[in-house]
Amino acid sequence: MERDTTRGLGGGQSASAGEDHRSRPGVLVPILLWAVLISVMGLVYIAAGAESSPRNAVPVQTPNIFAPTSTPAFAIRDLSWFVLSICAGIFAVVAGLLAYSVVRFRHRPGEDNREPPQVYGSNQIELAWTVVPVLIVVILFLATARYIFGIEGLQPTPNALQITIVGHQWWWEIRYPDLGIVTANELHVPVHDSSEGAPTFLTLQSADVIHSFWVPQLAGKMDVVPNKTNRVWIDPRTPGLYVGQCAEFCGVQHAGMLLRVTVHPKDEFAAWVAAQRALAADDLAVRGGRELFQATACINCHTVRGTPANGIFGPDLTHLMSRVTLGAGVVSNTPETLRDWINNPDILKPGVLMPAMQLSPAALDRIVAYLLTLR
Ligand code: CUA
Repeated sequence: MERDTTRGLGGGQSASAGEDHRSRPGVLVPILLWAVLISVMGLVYIAAGAESSPRNAVPVQTPNIFAPTSTPAFAIRDLSWFVLSICAGIFAVVAGLLAYSVVRFRHRPGEDNREPPQVYGSNQIELAWTVVPVLIVVILFLATARYIFGIEGLQPTPNALQITIVGHQWWWEIRYPDLGIVTANELHVPVHDSSEGAPTFLTLQSADVIHSFWVPQLAGKMDVVPNKTNRVWIDPRTPGLYVGQCAEFCGVQHAGMLLRVTVHPKDEFAAWVAAQRALAADDLAVRGGRELFQATACINCHTVRGTPANGIFGPDLTHLMSRVTLGAGVVSNTPETLRDWINNPDILKPGVLMPAMQLSPAALDRIVAYLLTLR
């Protein structure tokens, strides 16, 4: 078998007899492909940047990294488009060359079965396929590092709202240390205020295992690690409801560890704060239920501010009925689901650490009646 090892890639014309292979594949096609793809990538990147203006963002109920509404999330969206564009370009070039080769060098009728010329040791080509990928990796690395350090480098200003979020199996404890508020699973924050311009800082801690705090439209994913404090900040531009969830497998109810973030206009947030700071309601009509609640094991795990109930293992119930879900988002918070939950939470959330309270139907009714007043 005849081998021709002296020719470069562009010199494949001697491969077959009787077939016209004289047109050189050459380097023109890959170069043209690169040029087209780089232009397309540039256009995509510019288009993505053009609609990154916060004014255009709308509240979206489904978590979506491509519909950000808060400063770190805008940066993540832009970086994602940049990286995806480069990857799409690489894919198009590789797939394009592959398709070209498959068509151009396909087997044709009447062709003999000789091997094509074998090419070894082309310095230009080996340099090209080493240097270009290295450059691409360096560009991706530098762009990512720039965004990461830009986001993580921001320090809280003295007037910034500070919130501590503690991951539990399987719910989120939410504390506003400066405001004296403790709630669960439903985070409330003010919208960006151009006069104050202070982002909201979230300090993340875990009570048990590793969780991960992720509300895609507000900020990047951040692990919540036992014995370690992590931090994210958000600066939402559009009021609305944004959903997220635990993004690190943390046990059987990992998927039932949902988050709702309500971004309020300034006045609305102030009203929410005022309502949450109030002590628990003490409705005389449900005194019996309150006394029963305080006589059961409920108070070992739950706090109702202004009463002897001061447990911290489970969610704070002081303003339980201000929350729209139960069990970290697994069901709506209605009188019926609340009753079912207290009767046997495991039915609504299998594996939940809250035990069934083994109450008689009458006792259950009294406790539910009391909890329903905790607005
Ligand atoms: Cu907490 Cu997954």
